[in-house]
Amino acid sequence: MCGIVGYTGKKQAYPIILKGLKRLEYRGYDSSGVALLKNGILNVYKKKGKVVELEESLLGETLEATIGIGHTRWATHGEPSDKNAHPHTSANGNIAMIHNGIIENYALIKSDLLKKGYSFKSETDTEVLLNFIEDIQKNNNCSIEEALRIALKRVTGAYCILLIEKNNPDTIIAARKGSPLVIGIGKGEHFLASDASPIIEYTKEVVYVNDYELAIVKPDELILKNLGNETITPYITKLDMELAAIEKGGYEHFMLKEIFEQPSTIFDCLRGRLNSKESLIKMSGVDDNIEQILKADRILIIACGTSWHAGLVAEYIIEELCRIPVEVEYASEFRYRNPIVNKGDVIIAISQSGETADTLVALEKAKENGAFIFGVVNAVGSSIARISNAGAYTHAGPEIGVASTKAFTGQLVVLMMTALVVARHKKSISEDRYNALLVELEQVPEKVEAILKNADQIKTIAEKYKTANDFLFLGRGYNFPIALEGALKLKEISYIHAEGYPAAEMKHGPIALVDESLPVVFIATKDPYHEKIISNMQEIKARKGKIISIISEGDTISPDLSNDYFCIPIADELIAPLLTVIPLQLLSYYVGIAKGIDVDKPRNLAKSVTVE
Ligand code: M6R
Repeated sequence: MCGIVGYTGKKQAYPIILKGLKRLEYRGYDSSGVALLKNGILNVYKKKGKVVELEESLLGETLEATIGIGHTRWATHGEPSDKNAHPHTSANGNIAMIHNGIIENYALIKSDLLKKGYSFKSETDTEVLLNFIEDIQKNNNCSIEEALRIALKRVTGAYCILLIEKNNPDTIIAARKGSPLVIGIGKGEHFLASDASPIIEYTKEVVYVNDYELAIVKPDELILKNLGNETITPYITKLDMELAAIEKGGYEHFMLKEIFEQPSTIFDCLRGRLNSKESLIKMSGVDDNIEQILKADRILIIACGTSWHAGLVAEYIIEELCRIPVEVEYASEFRYRNPIVNKGDVIIAISQSGETADTLVALEKAKENGAFIFGVVNAVGSSIARISNAGAYTHAGPEIGVASTKAFTGQLVVLMMTALVVARHKKSISEDRYNALLVELEQVPEKVEAILKNADQIKTIAEKYKTANDFLFLGRGYNFPIALEGALKLKEISYIHAEGYPAAEMKHGPIALVDESLPVVFIATKDPYHEKIISNMQEIKARKGKIISIISEGDTISPDLSNDYFCIPIADELIAPLLTVIPLQLLSYYVGIAKGIDVDKPRNLAKSVTVE
């Protein structure tokens, strides 16, 4: 949540910051702003709305400066407005600051500052922290860096902050705890950002700043320190990402591009790991820790949102193939209840961004209790990837659209391969079944490709149902989590209320919703319970609900029961979720487009939820 960018060097800072903000806009788009420092003058510009509105408001302005910071906001404290937009300036006007995160004890600090005569221009926790820093600096007659260090020891919550000061003509001071920060190292210049996307164009050498670290960044110098003022040697990493991966590449939206990328992202996820001819899956994160995993009495899966749905599919797969009990937890619930986590417990953490605050904190808690964390993460070098004891990347490449699509299928592939490796070691799977599933997995990219070729059929269905007020998504077995995912996608992208349910559970309540105006999406591929789901379709049809079904090629019964249907290639029931989810992603995309919604940036959402 919230994207931050900073630049110090010899180039003009504004164009670099603006471009960076556009790349980070997926993190929040309630307002944006920049602060530029030149000849001891600090100019701050901010605007409610998307980055383009800031850009338009600044047309014709002289925005010369070689140092600056910029922010795109996802509102927490205070409504989206010009005054709550970042950067904020301190009471004496000397410091400008941007912040991603939440200062939890801001109310206490604010009341102290109010007693001291401070007043506030915004409702944000950020402005409170900023004036707290200014106050410490004033009282201790110390440098901004020292004041920041003292302040950060007293605040609770999460932050990534960048600040610039009038008296420090070329220095950006940054700090992080819980919210990400990457520093790009150029020649005589440095770039700071929430992720590498604003940096990749200029340099591939980056430093990922860790929690409780402070960075003092000048054009020719990067000093890292801890809160105890000890210097830390920066660890420079090479980015393995191309610029094309974060551009739309001719597609109208990132979401559509990312849906259509799935044949290749799934292929990339399998590449170098799975070889059906040799009956082999190589996953060093699993292979190197197989004893740890095999001796686990149970596996806990922790995630949020779409990643949680991947966890539900994994629960079914792991229990089926490995015969190890699995529990799937919402990270936000897990972290606040009093869960039983013992030394040696295996936790699978699933996250696209690798920065989701609830997941991260839940893992920290579990790790303190001695759990072994296996991360299934997309964003390389992210906080969850780094906190994990072992793991496997999904290799889906940067996912920019707010709706998770290609990351989800990547997660399913990694989880499936993990289950297969464990099952084989445990001998809980026959060699025939193991080999058959390897072959099926290898075929997924071409089957997804075949589905995408018929995307127009889904577009037609979307046009037909775009005015519905509610949708019901029903599935059984491995397709039940896909029903949940279909409903989540539609809610996010089209603002239509949707519920996902196990098809059989529908008669215990949701059936009351059914009338001739309710579209009911059945995920009804050929599997052992196909006849059962056919009965569920009959029950909906009898009540005049409109049936849209996702079915297997060759199914001759479902089309007669359905108002509309979409065929997918035949697949094993364990593999089916990788295919059935594709038309549902397309359905939400096309309904969203038909309703004129900005599907890459739907209202109220942010890609990376770094607040709880
Ligand atoms: O980055 P993560 O996978 O940890 O994110 C978890 C959820 O916030 C995320 O899946 C969210 O539900 C998406 N918007 C779904 O499309």
